[in-house]
Amino acid sequence: MRIVRSTAAMQRLARQWQRQGQRVGFVPTMGYLHAGHLSLVQEARRRIGPVGQVVVSIYVNPTQFGPQEDLSRYPRDLKRDLRLCRAAGADVVFTPTDAEMYPGWGKAADEPAHGDARPTFSTYIVEEQLSRCMEGAARPTHFRGVTTVVAKLFNLVLPELTVFGAKDWQQAAIIQRMTHDLNFPVKIIVAPTVRALDGLALSSRNQYLDAAQRAQAVILSQAIKRARVAVRRKSMPAARLKTDLRNFIASAPLARLDYVEAFDPDTLTPVITAKRGTQLALAVFFGPTRLIDNGRL
Ligand code: PAJ
Repeated sequence: MRIVRSTAAMQRLARQWQRQGQRVGFVPTMGYLHAGHLSLVQEARRRIGPVGQVVVSIYVNPTQFGPQEDLSRYPRDLKRDLRLCRAAGADVVFTPTDAEMYPGWGKAADEPAHGDARPTFSTYIVEEQLSRCMEGAARPTHFRGVTTVVAKLFNLVLPELTVFGAKDWQQAAIIQRMTHDLNFPVKIIVAPTVRALDGLALSSRNQYLDAAQRAQAVILSQAIKRARVAVRRKSMPAARLKTDLRNFIASAPLARLDYVEAFDPDTLTPVITAKRGTQLALAVFFGPTRLIDNGRL
């Protein structure tokens, strides 16, 4: 397994593969890998074949964190991640630096460079429809950061297909839209959410939870199951379903609901009537830690 740190080296390698006609599968991550991430690596391998190249990127992307969010304390363990990538069958781990991904990022465009010859990063990709609700409403600049970094990664890795997790349903939908709108020649695969035995969706953020919070965090997946049971026999007003779920979440004393939404899985528009096939998503705080989950009813 090769470790690539510079953007120039990654792009050179990708263009070499392209000339050789090699197939390339890609899994973008922010590291601190768990079985959910690794299932995406395995899916990329399965689809790209044994001789194709599977690239995993590990990059904690600063532009998708809000000013009050957990960028500086986001968990990192590159040594462990590299070991896991190797075991999962990755060919290349691409782990670039902030200085290379966002030269001079954070500086005002008109700020004098003070002998720093690097240009200032100032171009973003903004998806304007699917990004407004749910995670986008709660985290206003988040998806701008995600679409921008994923577009950059596509240009550096030149993959034929990229695997995202259903765990971040809205993110996958926005990336699919961006890929279509901007004609990236990349196929987007969405792989199922990997869960702990009690149903909690695996997430790098779960490790912020203390024992009591961890025990109650199962309320997210239980809420999805409860909604599934509620609409199994017949549809019901989404407002009524959401009220029931709000009360249900309130039964976990450490949980503070941020939002619960019932929506169309493709357009992400809220539904009036919840029924089988409706997508349900929710975000719940445990102390400062914010967990998300979603599922098809
Ligand atoms: P990160 O949170 O590290 O997640 C990387 C990928 O793993 C995403 O596609 C996410 O949906 C998927 N994933 C996370 N938990 C999962 C689980 N339990 N089961 C299945 N897949 C899971 O998402 C990001 O990073 C970033 O926004 C990124 C796309 C890398 C851009 O910076």
